[in-house]
Amino acid sequence: MAKRRIYQVGENVLRQVSKPVTEFDDKLSALMDDMIETLVIADGAGLAAPQVGVLKRIFVATFDGGKTFVEAVNPVIVKAKGSKVAPEGCLSIPNAREKVERPRSVVVEAFDRHGNPITLKASGFEAACFCHEIDHLDGILFTDRAINGKR
Ligand code: NI
Repeated sequence: MAKRRIYQVGENVLRQVSKPVTEFDDKLSALMDDMIETLVIADGAGLAAPQVGVLKRIFVATFDGGKTFVEAVNPVIVKAKGSKVAPEGCLSIPNAREKVERPRSVVVEAFDRHGNPITLKASGFEAACFCHEIDHLDGILFTDRAINGKR
């Protein structure tokens, strides 16, 4: 595994739309291991592939400080319920925290790194994180959705 550079707001790659993964191979596994290592070192909750400069539809997340990981390839939100406003941050936008409205709960369909279909169910912070990471895959940053009206 190797730590990768986290791209920062202002860098063009963060504003691109990522492409679906079509090859579930060793290269994909290596990338996802690198993303996990990068996420842990940065002490974040979620990291999307464009944040390490790779325009592929992948994110990783951890909600227990790096003990266990959620991995999602080609994730799609298939159900969203309710709404909740909570502050968010992003490893690509250091020192920024803004309130964002997200669904209270979501169901996400995706694939694991081996190409097996998976279903992720989440609420609260985890649901917001999944939405935030999937936004990255479409070139959207949480500051675009900030409801403070100061941006
Ligand atoms: Ni982010």
